[in-house]
Amino acid sequence: MHSVQMSRDLQDDATAWRRYLHQNPELDYQVLNTAAFVTQKLASFGINHIETGIAETGIVALIQGDGGDGPTIGLRADMDALPIVESSNNPWSSKIPGRMHACGHDGHTAMLLGAARQLANTRNFKGTVALIFQPAEEDGRGAQRMVQEGIMDRFGISRVFGMHNSPGMEIGKFGICDGPIMGALDEFDIIVKGRGGHAASPHMNIDPIVIAAQIVVGLQTLVSRNTDPMESLVISVTKLNAGEAYNIIPEHAQIAGTVRALVPALRDFAERQIYASSQGVARGFGADIEFKYRRLEPATVNHSTETALAVEAARKLVGANSVDDKVRPSLGSEDFAYMLDARPGAYIFIGNGSTASLHNPEYDFNDEALLYGIGYWVNLVETALAR
Ligand code: NI
Repeated sequence: MHSVQMSRDLQDDATAWRRYLHQNPELDYQVLNTAAFVTQKLASFGINHIETGIAETGIVALIQGDGGDGPTIGLRADMDALPIVESSNNPWSSKIPGRMHACGHDGHTAMLLGAARQLANTRNFKGTVALIFQPAEEDGRGAQRMVQEGIMDRFGISRVFGMHNSPGMEIGKFGICDGPIMGALDEFDIIVKGRGGHAASPHMNIDPIVIAAQIVVGLQTLVSRNTDPMESLVISVTKLNAGEAYNIIPEHAQIAGTVRALVPALRDFAERQIYASSQGVARGFGADIEFKYRRLEPATVNHSTETALAVEAARKLVGANSVDDKVRPSLGSEDFAYMLDARPGAYIFIGNGSTASLHNPEYDFNDEALLYGIGYWVNLVETALAR
């Protein structure tokens, strides 16, 4: 099995790729230069089955093992950056104002490229590896579109694996858990419909601002007083808009926010109870509401068998004590969820050391992690597709 030592010769190249990608961040589906860079590298490794233009700029490339027929497993990296002004002053910081790789997708792409080179050289497995490079993770739609465009069926992918760096987790450590590991993402909008009028005559009006304030306070108790404290649910009000003038009570007030949950039943609860609580408060004041609830991304749910495989592959690389197989899930969302909805698989966190947090202007992917990520991918393939 591959050790960190065996992939150390890739370190310099992978670092150069990572820093090039970091200097040239692209957004959403517009990762044209990034996709061209990835395609050119894959071809230079002697990989000749490369399909581009999936979900606009996504790529799937296939590597056959030397061990004969076997299943196909998918390894996924995301390629897109964020609309953030970078404030680190590294020599490799973003050359494009207002855009930066603040989530480490530059590192994810470089690690999968490094694994591609290693696997194309050694081919010490049976069956096939499908390298999946996706656009628009931050948009939350890239993975879904690649699945909708049929990559799982077309390439015969039977299991799929993902990885994300984790600031605050030590370099050389991994974290994973069976079941939900990243949260579902929903959004809601509430419009409070009162009756506007002169601010000097409150008795003639139904003030939507006072009602909206009560609704916001009421929403704070849905989690604290109505859900099991051992389960995870977040309801955050993130927008509150009403009024234009000092002397007018407006007709409407708008409230909006986000819901994060690990299990589907809590999304049902949130949708039902946000409506019931808001409607109840509004009715009590003689007003009414309009309510919209949108389910944007499902939770990222790891499958048991594949989680065990991922743990085994990581432990072969860094030892049992450096792999936490009961890591605390995050309530952030991840569109790899759509791939795990389509096929069994597992998503793992890789330590990024003590860097700034994800989506922070000072964040940088830690190049010391590259080696571990590459080693994990190679071990995973040689474990899942052992000849
Ligand atoms: Ni990310």
